[in-house]
Amino acid sequence: MTRITLPRPDDWHLHLRDGAMMRAVLPETTRDFARALIMPNLVPPVVTAAQATAYRDRILAAMPEGADFQPLMTLYLTEETEAADLRAAAESGLITAVKLYPAGATTNSASGVSDFTRVKPVLETMAEIGLPLCVHGEVTDPTVDIFDREAVFIDRVLDPIRREIAGLRVVMEHVTTRDAVDYVRAGGSDLAATITTHHLVINRNHILAGGIRPHYYCLPVAKREEHRRALVTAATSGEAAFFLGTDSAPHLDSAKLMPCGCAGCFTATNTLSILAEVFEAEGALERLEGFASRHGPGFYGLPVNEDRVTLEKGEPVSYPAAIATEDGPVTVFDPMMPLHWRVVA
Ligand code: DOR
Ligand code: ZN
Repeated sequence: MTRITLPRPDDWHLHLRDGAMMRAVLPETTRDFARALIMPNLVPPVVTAAQATAYRDRILAAMPEGADFQPLMTLYLTEETEAADLRAAAESGLITAVKLYPAGATTNSASGVSDFTRVKPVLETMAEIGLPLCVHGEVTDPTVDIFDREAVFIDRVLDPIRREIAGLRVVMEHVTTRDAVDYVRAGGSDLAATITTHHLVINRNHILAGGIRPHYYCLPVAKREEHRRALVTAATSGEAAFFLGTDSAPHLDSAKLMPCGCAGCFTATNTLSILAEVFEAEGALERLEGFASRHGPGFYGLPVNEDRVTLEKGEPVSYPAAIATEDGPVTVFDPMMPLHWRVVA
């Protein structure tokens, strides 16, 4: 096969940031994607419906000319979130999901949740109205090894929440472990997972062996090769519970390349080329459509995009090493392998 056409993909987990950064990164997503679920971890976070409306308006104002792209908004769950505000935001169609960050788990998560009993009424409302909860699934307990934080989160936090709040629809975001893949497989139709581009490509050696590579540092941190393989198997399996959420997370190089650098891989630019390469290597190119274009809308109850994209295989494609912003460069994720698939239409 040297040419594939699929419904225009969606990105079910994207960081666009704001201001100059947003203006620089937005075209990298609108080029190939029809919709994206926009993460609310701005400073300050997008907590209320009013803030989500204003943020959506800023995104729409920054759209490149001719782009046909719909930002799907999320609210950032705090212990102060009011069920009534959230219900109104969902019923008006303003928001597609709510994002749960355990307090302190990652970039701009300080306003997240520490005491899960305090958000129970809000989660009950979400279960009632069918509004999905997108979960950053890592415990923040400093005594838990960083490579174990996802697996421990499932046992200590996620599973108890799901048992207590029947019918709550949950997306485990950016899963990185076999444990999470197994948990999602056993979870039934109310549970799904996004998988990022970079976690399909790197394992923890890529970050740490032969020198430290800050551009491969993200959260959850990449795990052992056996876990990466479990992710590739899940993504290419055709199972509806797994779909693409790139977690493309731009940081200025100056914020990545420092003694305490930020977490995040910026993959918006070359994601489709990388995915085609990964799926082809598994002999599963025909399943890329499910992963990138169908399973996400299926879970969120939205139509599959009618528009199409076509990828063609040929000589290796090159992408810019970095994109420019007014404040400096943002390095594009380097998959360390030649990419032969390019989006041609
Ligand atoms: O690597 C990450 N970067 N993981 C996250 O959970 C947040 C994201 C960011 O916002 O930079
Ligand atoms: Zn993220």
